[in-house]
Amino acid sequence: MKAGKKRVAILISGGGSNMVTLAQDMLGDPSHAGAPVLVLSNIATAGGLEKARDLGIPTEIVDHKAHDTRETFDTELNAILRQYAPDVICLAGFMRILTPVFVDAWDGKVLNIHPSLLPKYKGLNTHARAIEAGDSEAGCSVHRVTAGLDDGPVLGQARVPIQMNDTTDGLAKRVLVQEHRLYPAVLRRFLAGENGLLRL
Ligand code: GRF
Repeated sequence: MKAGKKRVAILISGGGSNMVTLAQDMLGDPSHAGAPVLVLSNIATAGGLEKARDLGIPTEIVDHKAHDTRETFDTELNAILRQYAPDVICLAGFMRILTPVFVDAWDGKVLNIHPSLLPKYKGLNTHARAIEAGDSEAGCSVHRVTAGLDDGPVLGQARVPIQMNDTTDGLAKRVLVQEHRLYPAVLRRFLAGENGLLRL
C-alpha cells in the first residue's frame, strides 16, 4: 500500500456489493486518498468475504454467535480492528447493532450506509415501510455513526422515485444502484475532510 493513504476497513454481513464498489473505487484510482486494508464479517459464510479475497484484501471473521453480549462482541471487534489500524471504518450491510464499546472507540471515524432517506425509517424493512406509507420517493443515506441506531450526521443522500405498484424487491434493487454511486462518492469527500451534505 502506498504511504500516505488513509487505511479503510469495511464491515459486512452479506453479499458485499457496497464493499466491492468502495474497494474498486479505491483500488482503481492511484490518486484515491484511501486504501482498503481489511474486510471483516460477523458471518463466516458471507458472500462478500470471497469477493474481498478476490480483490486481494485481507479478511477477518468475528462471529457474533460466539458472544453472550453485544459488548463482548464489540470488544473482540475492536481488538481485531486495532491490528489493522484503520483511519476510517465503513459499515456496508453490517447487520449488527453496535454498543458504545465500539462507537466510542472509533468516534468520528465510522460511516454507515442505510437504505432510506434518513431520518425516515431507521432500522429494518425500510422499503416496505416507505411503500406502505404511500411515499413518493425512497432512497439511501450515508451517515457518520454515533450512539443511536442509524443516527448521526447525514453526509450524503440519493433519492429514488417510488413507482405505481412498486414492490419492495424492485425498489430495493433500484435503491441499491444508487447506494453503489453514493457510498464511494461520500467516502472520497469524507477522506478529503468535506462534511457537507452530498445530494445525488
Ligand atoms: C444494502 O441495501 C445496505 O444498505 C443494507 O444491506 C444491503 C447490503 O447489501 N443495509 P450488500 O451486502 O452491500 O450487497
